[in-house]
This record gives sequence, structure tokens and C-alpha cells, in this order.
Amino acid sequence: MRLLFFVTLLGFSCFCNEVFGVHISNLSGSCFRCLCHVAGCDMTRGCSDGYCGPFFISRVYWVDAGKITLPDDDPERQEAFEDCARDYHCSIRIIESYMAKFGKDCNHDGVTDCFDYMMINYHGGRGCSKPLFLTQSGRRWLKSYLECRF
Ligand SMILES: *[C@@H]1O[C@H](CO)[C@@H](O)[C@H](O)[C@H]1NC(C)=O
Repeated sequence: MRLLFFVTLLGFSCFCNEVFGVHISNLSGSCFRCLCHVAGCDMTRGCSDGYCGPFFISRVYWVDAGKITLPDDDPERQEAFEDCARDYHCSIRIIESYMAKFGKDCNHDGVTDCFDYMMINYHGGRGCSKPLFLTQSGRRWLKSYLECRF
């Protein structure tokens, strides 16, 4: 009886996440298009060097985001990460969930906006304050970001 109640609760909370999604301030559609642009936004991209899909998502990022999957998939299935991260819409759910946990004002300008989300996608949530111009790939991301934001 107690077990049944627990299982029902678990099922219900998963159902809630699926239906309502998450809303993160300033993580808008145009921000998603820009985050995709800086990462290459290649819709046909598979996985290479541990990064998958149009947003270049790593397995660690996916795990930290809470192992988001395609509808009805099992997060423990071997290819669950790859299949979600290769899919644009599933990737968006990974990023939303990641930013719900790690979203913050990385550059300390007083707002949490798309620039911060871009920094987080580059560095990961924990070390996101490090300036992007310090590395060559970081400078490439900065340049791409300016192309799609302004
Ligand atoms: C979102 O961006 C706007 C405009 O830059 C800013 O005023 C607002 O504080 C931001 N939201 C958060 C949570 O920082």
C-alpha cells in the first residue's frame, strides 16, 4: 500500500515536469537560437569527442541537467543521452533544466541573461565566470554571440 502510494507520487511528479516544463527568465526563443548558433547549430550533427547535437552537449552536462530524455525513454538506456542531445527540442529541455539549476549572473553585470547562459554553456555552470576572451574557442563563441544578439 505504502509502496503503491510512492510509485503513484513518483509517476505524478514526472507527469508534471513533462506537461508544464520550466520557465527560466531570459531564456527565450531568440536566446535558444543564439545558443545554438554559437555551438554551430548543425542539426545533422551526431556525437563526436563526447559532445552531441546542435548545441554540443556533453554527457556530464546532461547528467547535471537531470538526465532529460525523449518522451517515454529510459534515462538509464545506453543511448538515451545521445538520442536526446541530437534532437533540437529535446536539447532545449536539457538546457532549460540545466539553467534551472546553474543559471546565474556569470559576468556580474546585475542581470541573468542570454550572455550568462552562453557563458554557462561554454564553461559549465560551476566555473562560468571565467572570461571567454582568454581562449581561442572562447573568442569564437563571443564573436558568434555578437552576430546573433545585436
Ligand atoms: C532579464 O533581462 C532583463 C533585461 O536585461 C533584466 O532587467 C532582468 O533582470 C533579467 N532577469 C533576471 C532574472 O536577471
